[in-house]
Amino acid sequence: MLLLDNISLELETDQGKVPILHDVSLNMDAGKMYALTGPNGSGKSSVARVAMGIYKQTSGKVFYNGEDISELNISERARRGIGYAFQHPPRFKGMPVKDMLEMAMKHADGVNCQVLRDIGLCPEDYLERTLDNSLSGGEIKRIEIATILAQNPKVRIFDEPEAGIDLWSFEQLIDVIGSSHREDTVTVVISHQEKILNMVDEIVLIKDGTVNMRGDRDTIWPQIKESAECSCRSNCRLEGEIYADCPR
Ligand SMILES: Nc1ncnc2c1ncn2[C@@H]1O[C@H](COP(=O)(O)OP(=O)(O)O)[C@@H](O)[C@H]1O
Ligand SMILES: [Mg+2]
Repeated sequence: MLLLDNISLELETDQGKVPILHDVSLNMDAGKMYALTGPNGSGKSSVARVAMGIYKQTSGKVFYNGEDISELNISERARRGIGYAFQHPPRFKGMPVKDMLEMAMKHADGVNCQVLRDIGLCPEDYLERTLDNSLSGGEIKRIEIATILAQNPKVRIFDEPEAGIDLWSFEQLIDVIGSSHREDTVTVVISHQEKILNMVDEIVLIKDGTVNMRGDRDTIWPQIKESAECSCRSNCRLEGEIYADCPR
């Protein structure tokens, strides 16, 4: 359904061109749930951004249902059915939450408030709020996730949905991502959370801008757990401190 074919990505920075992704190939089939995991800075969000058309790959192609969408922009890809919930959602300054959800649902006659309840926000408290700095990072994050749930695209990419979300809402979030997954949908969750890695069909480990390991959860998860180095910052054990992104 979604195919990243030999994607390499270089980004222009103040220090010149920086290589970010190298020969990343990933095919994702309808009906399956995937987790992208790996150390901070390994390139997970960049993979999602290339799929969504936010970053333009330096080489390689992106296909959606067999169609080459490499040259399509974000809105065209969104229209095709690809949705991305940002790791750090931009704030559409001044836009009411209600309008944002209505836009996502593509009709203007009322919002399905359930999507807000699903992610632990009371619609009465939030529908009339505005997407600006008056909302906390966690609130913005949840509204972003609710927007993708409302939009219900065929390819749903959630980038670290757990960030800024309390434990109780997190359990609820996992349930709603799982229960809203369909046979004709690809769900991709970028995450370090064991509960999410346990929920998916396949795990992809991204490391140093490449696909380091990939396979069904039961095969890959024990290998990731075995290899402390692969998901921890290199010194996490030496410091006697386990970081949030360590799966152990
Ligand atoms: N717009 C950008 N400009 C410069 N460097 C970037 C940009 N986006 C990502 N990077 C760099 O690319 C690498 C991978 O980033 P990212 O895909 O966000 O990693 P992850 O999501 O796995 O933490 C990091 O080193 C990051 O600093
Ligand atoms: Mg990221």
